[in-house]
Amino acid sequence: MENTLYDRLGEDNLKLLIDYFYNLIFEDEQIKHLFKNDKEEIKQKQFMFLSQFLGGPNLYTEKFGHPRLRARHIPHRITQTDAVAWLKCMSAAVDKLPIDEKLKDELFERFPQTAMFMVNTEESNN
Ligand code: HEM
Repeated sequence: MENTLYDRLGEDNLKLLIDYFYNLIFEDEQIKHLFKNDKEEIKQKQFMFLSQFLGGPNLYTEKFGHPRLRARHIPHRITQTDAVAWLKCMSAAVDKLPIDEKLKDELFERFPQTAMFMVNTEESNN
């Protein structure tokens, strides 16, 4: 039986990924203004979500119900430029993980489609 991405990555690396990722997000000039809540809380939620997104335990759904990810992002105005910035942070975070290059590629590939799906706002000129 094929192991899930969650199994191959392991929980410790998933936690590392989330640490690296939010350290980058909270420093990112393009999107840091969107993140208004507590950093530890969003990290915990993202850990629960990504566990299930990568084929591990359904932690997020057990606690918060169906993810309805696009709906949950509607209160935040997310442009395509924001999605690209988010993906750049994710790519840099994945790259720092102590895992082989093939697993890095496979992991990163899980994100672009979902990130683009979160875009809910036209670019503005201001
Ligand atoms: C496309 C660019 C994205 C932006 C700008 C963005 C931004 C945000 C913001 C501002 C929040 C609320 C944080 C807070 O509470 O302060 C949030 C929550 C969250 N985001 Fe994103 N996000 C993006 C893409 C994604 C993607 C691709 C995923 C999953 C693969 C994701 C998963 C989550 C989860 C699980 C939460 C917590 C939802 C909850 O409140 O329960 N986001 N995001």
